[in-house]
Amino acid sequence: MKILSVASEAYPLVKTGGLADVVGALPAALSEHGVQVTTLLPGYPAVMKAAGGRAVYRWRDLMGGGEARLLRGEIAGHPLLVLEAPGLFARKGGLYAAAAGGDWPDNWQRFAAFGQAAAQVATGGVRGLRFDLLHAHDWQGGMAPVYLRYAQAAVKSVLTVHNIAFQGQFGAEVFPRLGLPPEAWSIDGVEYYGGVGFLKGGLAAATAITTVSPTYAREILRPEFGMGLEGLIAGRSAELTGIVNGIDPAVWNPRSDAALCARYDEADLARRVQNKRAIEQQFGLDEAEGPLFTVVTRLTWQKGMDVLAGALDSLVDMGGRLALLGSGDEGLEQAFLRAAARHPGRIGVRIGYDEALSHLLQGGADAIIIPSRFEPCGLTQLYGLAYGCVPIVARVGGLADTVIDANPAALGAGVATGIQFDDVTHEGLTYALRKAVSLYGQPARWRRMQQRGMAADFSWKTSGAAYAALYRSLVSA
Ligand code: ADP
Ligand code: GLC
Repeated sequence: MKILSVASEAYPLVKTGGLADVVGALPAALSEHGVQVTTLLPGYPAVMKAAGGRAVYRWRDLMGGGEARLLRGEIAGHPLLVLEAPGLFARKGGLYAAAAGGDWPDNWQRFAAFGQAAAQVATGGVRGLRFDLLHAHDWQGGMAPVYLRYAQAAVKSVLTVHNIAFQGQFGAEVFPRLGLPPEAWSIDGVEYYGGVGFLKGGLAAATAITTVSPTYAREILRPEFGMGLEGLIAGRSAELTGIVNGIDPAVWNPRSDAALCARYDEADLARRVQNKRAIEQQFGLDEAEGPLFTVVTRLTWQKGMDVLAGALDSLVDMGGRLALLGSGDEGLEQAFLRAAARHPGRIGVRIGYDEALSHLLQGGADAIIIPSRFEPCGLTQLYGLAYGCVPIVARVGGLADTVIDANPAALGAGVATGIQFDDVTHEGLTYALRKAVSLYGQPARWRRMQQRGMAADFSWKTSGAAYAALYRSLVSA
């Protein structure tokens, strides 16, 4: 079976978050199940490096965005297609926004063009390329199922929602330029609160919908999490499933990770201290008794970072230290930098994005704090579990599904892998931190939690099989 995976990011070529890790891992996860995944990416500068020279298809003018070509390439040994469209994707700055300031004003055109090209490729419009199904990811891929639908193509589609908070909404004025029939301007088409919704249109058009954890699949049926799309999703709940993300063992494995100072497994956790010393040095932290917490994240409201910033004095009072790596909201960046200045030697902050450092933090810190208000799946808790960096998480979405809370029963049975808490508030978080400090003071219990997490299976085995089964059921239906 041949799948065209349509996404805006894929590790290791281009990444702003977990979407890239998942899209990058899918080809290997599915090849074991007899499924060949070809990834289609926009031709961002970082992606063009992996693209081959000869075009397999050319557009003289793709959706008003100028010339475009389809190039072949390779990503981690798997087939890649790149939509080279200089007018749309060859620019400096962020993927979705200029370095300073708001979204690119032509985002509607960039990702409509991407979706239209994807649909054309999936339906055999390019000689030598044939696919059984199109798998689109998030709003940037959302228009691909829409174009398939209005072309009345036989090819089925899956749309995976990695984060419903990002919806790709544009003004009504873009509708006439999308090349869609008039009937697409309707409540079951792309029309959304008087404008155009790319994710909305995709959710209405896709043959099946998935999201990245079973709990999030239930949560988005409710207004608190559905962000306006709960009604549409509820109407399609028969076609909705939650398949939890796995982690790529070739990238995230403390036994072989080249970014660590010391590699280790469940049996020699003591070696982690070498990584801890390296973190302390890089973050200017004192060596001390209590737990070293870490955070690796986008600094946003979703991630509960405002609540964490307000709890840092308590964290230090309890005897904790913190090494934080992140970037995002300016106000939050400043708040963390101020906290580091207030608590020299106890709080270290690195503003920026650093893949290697994110591995070292997981490999040396004692616990990773993830106080998300919502979390479709979350990957950093999975990396924490795999690395013996105990996750402290809000009980939402994929965090609820993947961490076993250290409640008395789980501790008694020796199956706990982390700490969950209910309310993303100062009280909720400080309760969880206090519990972590107390458990850390009981070394046998703490070690047991680390080992249980490291022994748990978060590979793609089960989830790869679930995607393969879904694809097969759709293709044969
Ligand atoms: P989201 O996709 O919502 O940001 P996830 O937990 O699914 O959340 O994935 C985040 C990914 O991005 C992880 O691979 C994490 O390690 C990485 N990441 C986030 N912030 C940084 C950073 N500042 N430096 C390095 N890696 C980061
Ligand atoms: C999104 C979500 C995150 C998820 C990731 C990969 O960015 O915010 O929870 O892990 O996608 O599916």
